[in-house]
Amino acid sequence: MGAPVIILGVTGSIAAYKAADLASLLVKGGAEVHVVMSRHACDFITPLTLQTMSRNPVVTCVADAQANWKPGHIDLADRATLLLIAPATANVIAELAHGLAGHPLAEIALATRSPLLIAPAMNGKMWEHPATQANVALLKSRGAEFIGPEAGILACGYEGLGRLAAVTEIASRALAKCGKA
Ligand SMILES: Cc1cc2nc3c(=O)[nH]c(=O)nc-3n(C[C@H](O)[C@H](O)[C@H](O)COP(=O)(O)O)c2cc1C
Repeated sequence: MGAPVIILGVTGSIAAYKAADLASLLVKGGAEVHVVMSRHACDFITPLTLQTMSRNPVVTCVADAQANWKPGHIDLADRATLLLIAPATANVIAELAHGLAGHPLAEIALATRSPLLIAPAMNGKMWEHPATQANVALLKSRGAEFIGPEAGILACGYEGLGRLAAVTEIASRALAKCGKA
């Protein structure tokens, strides 16, 4: 059997820089990693960094990754063993909960039938807001799994629940879900 295909979705959180280490850990763990970034994620980390760490081209818009006749993001969705979103913003959690498809990552989340693992990172009040909690519950009811967030000092200056789970833990959980424990 070939390497499991992990799509690593990266969104516009201050924790996005940690996605470089995460991509590296997944590659070292034996996965084929394809990074899909939201537009806002590119404010926090460059596609070039994630391309280098994942060893694959990075998708930032629907026109990317057109290697053959099939739209690249749909091809990725079909090939995925796991869709991992880390870090996941409050915004992308809301988009996924409500089935929006305004960018490649959201489209892939609708198009793939692979399991979905979400590692949220945000301000503690955003995480605790009933809207976010309702979105999380909705995604869980459809089978999505969450890892974190953890409690600690947050980049916004507050202390509370909202830190991205440790990338080592996210990588272990993701690889285990792909049979690479
Ligand atoms: C410095 C800075 C840090 C941010 N960190 C987060 C964060 O950790 N989590 C979050 O949900 N939003 C965060 N935001 C807000 C998101 O970038 C914003 O909601 C954006 O629309 C998310 O877009 P995306 O989900 O398409 O990536 C941050 C914004 C700024 C300016």
